[in-house]
Amino acid sequence: MKSPVIVALDFATPKDALALAGQLDPTMCRVKVGKELFTASGPALVEQLQSLGFEVFLDLKFHDIPNTVAGALRAASALGVWMVNVHALGGPAMLEAARAAVGDDTKLIAVTVLTSMDASQLTAIGLGDGPEAQVLKLAGLTHAAGLDGVVCSPLEAAALKQRFGEKFCLVTPGVRPADSAKGDQKRVMTPKSALEAGSNYLVIGRPISQANDPNQALVSILESLES
Ligand code: C5P
Repeated sequence: MKSPVIVALDFATPKDALALAGQLDPTMCRVKVGKELFTASGPALVEQLQSLGFEVFLDLKFHDIPNTVAGALRAASALGVWMVNVHALGGPAMLEAARAAVGDDTKLIAVTVLTSMDASQLTAIGLGDGPEAQVLKLAGLTHAAGLDGVVCSPLEAAALKQRFGEKFCLVTPGVRPADSAKGDQKRVMTPKSALEAGSNYLVIGRPISQANDPNQALVSILESLES
């Protein structure tokens, strides 16, 4: 599939998630299932989305001892998800165990620094180097462990692409079409500028899920990439 768009299904119930998915064309986007929806709905929802034809990014950000993370990732791989993620803060041994546990058919990426963590939050947990240095350090560990890439802000994409190369996959939230409300996202880029900066996949939630016509909102975003 050529579309770089991953639609975030940020809903509390499977009914709401399936109602949105039912309005979207699985040849034009993938979907992301996160902690709230997965905790409420379980693997059955992932299977339902897949049977509708969607490739699923299971965004559960695993972070635990290597053996436990490896087991969780084997279960995710067995579900047949397209992409899954871990926290790079789990460290090199966890990242290596994660890599070994995930089959070739599933992309494995890592979260570096949560965007909710600013310099003062990082200092409070003993990481005093500042967010940019932390992102680069953790992306380096991710790359060294052979993972496929990282989740990052579109504003970090150019630097990460330059440092870790074309093949290192960048998945970016914080994307807003020019005419769309930012909501609680502060540092945003348009879909087209995010791709130009080096993002491979764009995670987009509310600009699609809260639109009067979600399919049309998706089509407009894809058209904006061609223009
Ligand atoms: O609605 P919106 O487009 O802001 O949704 C973005 C999605 O990406 C949400 O699922 C959000 O949790 C996720 N995300 C984010 N920022 C990060 C990591 C993930 O917005 N740094």
